[in-house]
Amino acid sequence: MTRLFSFLALSASVLHAVAQSQYLLGLGIADITGPVVETNMMGYASLGQTDSGLHQRQRARAFIVGETATTANRIVFVNADIAMGDTGIRRAILAALAAKYGTLYTAQNVAISSTHQHSGVGGYLENVLPQITSLGFVPQTYNAIVQGVLLAIDRAHASLAPGTLAIGNTTVAGGNINRSPTAYLANPAAERAMYVSEGGDQDKIMSLLSFGSRGFLSFFPVHGTSLYENNTLVSSDNKGMAAYLYESSIEPTAMPGNQTFVAGLGAFCESPGQPYDGMPCQANTSTCGGTVTDCHGRGPGFTLDSFGFHSNEMIAQIQVNAAKTILGKSLSTVSGTVRSVHVYLDMANHTFTLPNGTTAQTCPAAMGFSFAGGTTDGPGAFDFVQGDNSTTQNPFWEIVKSFVTPVPSAAQVACQAPKPILLNTGYATQPYAWSPSTVDIQMLKVGNLVMVVVPGELTTMAGRRLRNAVRAQLISSGIIDNSAYVVVAGPANTYAHYITTREEYAIQRYEGASTIYGQYTLEAYIDKYTSLVPFLANTPTGTPASDAAPPELTSSAISLQTGVVFDAAPSGKSFGQVLVDVVKTTAYHAGSTVLAQFVGANPRNNLRLEGTFLSVDQLVGGAWKMVKTDSHPSTLYQWARTSTILGTSTVNISWTIESGTPAGTYRLRYFGDSKPLIGSISAFTGTSSNFTVS
Ligand SMILES: *[C@@H]1O[C@H](CO)[C@@H](O)[C@H](O)[C@H]1NC(C)=O
Ligand SMILES: *[C@@H]1O[C@H](CO)[C@@H](O)[C@H](O)[C@H]1NC(C)=O
Ligand SMILES: *[C@@H]1O[C@H](CO)[C@@H](O)[C@H](O)[C@H]1NC(C)=O
Ligand SMILES: *[C@@H]1O[C@H](CO)[C@@H](O)[C@H](O)[C@H]1NC(C)=O
Ligand SMILES: *[C@@H]1O[C@H](CO)[C@@H](O)[C@H](O)[C@H]1NC(C)=O
Ligand SMILES: *[C@@H]1O[C@H](CO)[C@@H](O)[C@H](O)[C@H]1NC(C)=O
Ligand SMILES: *[C@@H]1O[C@H](CO)[C@@H](O)[C@H](O)[C@H]1NC(C)=O
Ligand SMILES: *[C@@H]1O[C@H](CO)[C@@H](O)[C@H](O)[C@H]1NC(C)=O
Ligand SMILES: *[C@@H]1O[C@H](CO)[C@@H](O)[C@H](O)[C@H]1NC(C)=O
Repeated sequence: MTRLFSFLALSASVLHAVAQSQYLLGLGIADITGPVVETNMMGYASLGQTDSGLHQRQRARAFIVGETATTANRIVFVNADIAMGDTGIRRAILAALAAKYGTLYTAQNVAISSTHQHSGVGGYLENVLPQITSLGFVPQTYNAIVQGVLLAIDRAHASLAPGTLAIGNTTVAGGNINRSPTAYLANPAAERAMYVSEGGDQDKIMSLLSFGSRGFLSFFPVHGTSLYENNTLVSSDNKGMAAYLYESSIEPTAMPGNQTFVAGLGAFCESPGQPYDGMPCQANTSTCGGTVTDCHGRGPGFTLDSFGFHSNEMIAQIQVNAAKTILGKSLSTVSGTVRSVHVYLDMANHTFTLPNGTTAQTCPAAMGFSFAGGTTDGPGAFDFVQGDNSTTQNPFWEIVKSFVTPVPSAAQVACQAPKPILLNTGYATQPYAWSPSTVDIQMLKVGNLVMVVVPGELTTMAGRRLRNAVRAQLISSGIIDNSAYVVVAGPANTYAHYITTREEYAIQRYEGASTIYGQYTLEAYIDKYTSLVPFLANTPTGTPASDAAPPELTSSAISLQTGVVFDAAPSGKSFGQVLVDVVKTTAYHAGSTVLAQFVGANPRNNLRLEGTFLSVDQLVGGAWKMVKTDSHPSTLYQWARTSTILGTSTVNISWTIESGTPAGTYRLRYFGDSKPLIGSISAFTGTSSNFTVS
């Protein structure tokens, strides 16, 4: 007995020691692509950006880290190819996780973050303001994201196995830019001087958490978008492209989204707060703000350069190279406990004490004039506010404009000063809240690494201040020693627009105008995040006070997108029939594009999640083998309605042949689903003629 006890005691202590640097690790990936046609895209907030096909599917990548000795301490970080996290999708995901896993995965330890891309499907956010260009809420987009994130988490959970973690970073070459950002320059000179070697007005450091041979999660503040506003093909943008490039370099024969190696390129959106006009054409200068420079480079395999596809791949490749550089170095082993903390914070009227002892207050949300201040300033023309409010271009605006935001009170004007208020969204609750008041404040600790999960887009200096404050607090309160490594991730969980420093706020450029809770927004966040640091201790005492969870809005959301009425093939033709065939007589070569056009049907009938709308098949040993899907960047799926009255449409499937493609016989296939006027949706396949590649 005694021997057994001492053996148990020994194994428990060994287990405890092992738990310090051994973790349970789970990684999973899943498809979250909503309707790829007839739906507004999310990011640029441009009414005209309605999707018309697919470049690459959007994915969610889930990373679970747990202690080996207990199920109690786990974190789930989801990096989704979407523009920003949202309270509605988060609520639905957490409810489904609770139903399936009980108390394992909760609001406290699950973070739903984004790559902040700008070419995904829109309509999933629950507040009014981001719904204006998407004509309200689009349930199909929302469901695709919720289901896909859950599947990614399920897959990560099913893959849980012991392993170790390591962290490292690199300075990304060519990441600096040449311009004079006036808002950034408003920050104190002494503070700016500290960061000259780290990129000055743009953070050039990529940090990477390695999951060994199973994958990685990186954090790099390049803006997640490099496809232009005039692109209407749904894509995963540069971070999703980088993930694809990395994953396919490890497992070249696996189909996109079906690899076991998971490369998560997390966003931490930073912006120096300056207009982007006049910037030279450079793929490496992409930054927050959403306006992408005029790059018209032409590269092999890309025919749509005028939409930014080439610079998208360049920016992706820069990130892939940086990740490879980090993984080629000797990384620092991550060790320590796994902890998490989460509270809701009502930012509408939050009172707190500044470090100098003065009491400060945030304000109910408001957008300043520069928010809508023209296209040179940055993202989102939001033409609904600039134009004549009597136009009938946007039926959603027609409904909500009658609820247009209340005239700000003197107190609100004073609180938001010096911001001139354009939209007093914090007081606009009809037909439902225009902007969130309550945001998620969350931190995830994995050993000596702490992820500060933020509900907005930070400027470069705001991000540094937040990171430095959290790190200093971790060290001074003895929670982590000098090895404390802090990264910022987001926009995650909720979308509360921008976060500038107070000095930048005073300049009231686009970012200051979009810092919705007033000049002390950043200070309030710093105060809250640092006050939660003690709850990341190995043995935390108590639980932090939290405001109430934000009200549920999804069920009252207005949705104006009409469903598919019906599909029909032109008389004498059938769905999937070839209208324009491939060239059969002469061989294709690397660099050329093969195209076939088919009698189509609306892809909104079936999103084909985890599947594909097309394939490139190769004849191998007398049998057809699928070698490309709709998520290979070399393939495009384009849908066009030819008659609304007749319900007819066409689909173009194209493949730009990569160099190194084996010579042989190939064909293109189109997978569609048609909806009759009466009856149920049925699947069909279209197949091109055989063609040769030599
Ligand atoms: C990069 O890693 C080094 C070595 O671990 C560390 O000293 C440095 O603080 C890191 N840089 C950033 C910005 O985190
Ligand atoms: C952009 O990257 C290229 C190649 O890495 C480099 O030569 C150039 O100097 C960079 N431009 C800027 C403005 O940093
Ligand atoms: C995905 O990978 C699994 C396991 O490697 C394989 O069985 C399956 O056929 C693959 N699916 C596709 C669509 O390639
Ligand atoms: C798309 O927008 C970019 C950037 O504004 C522009 O340079 C390009 O010409 C546009 N392409 C088309 C086809 O209009
Ligand atoms: C914020 O606080 C002020 C002063 O206490 C109060 O008048 C106002 O109604 C509050 N606003 C909100 C949105 O809670
Ligand atoms: C405290 O700091 C705030 C913000 O920097 C400033 O407005 C205020 O005047 C300071 N109060 C004192 C007493 O110095
Ligand atoms: C619409 O515009 C007119 C003048 O441009 C303005 O007077 C009116 O208040 C606006 N109405 C709303 C609901 O914004
Ligand atoms: C589809 O291909 C046809 C034939 O090449 C072309 O005329 C048409 O413009 C293409 N449609 C789209 C949406 O690209
Ligand atoms: C394409 O190739 C397959 C396999 O060799 C063959 O069965 C089929 O008849 C070919 N189709 C055409 C249209 O030539």
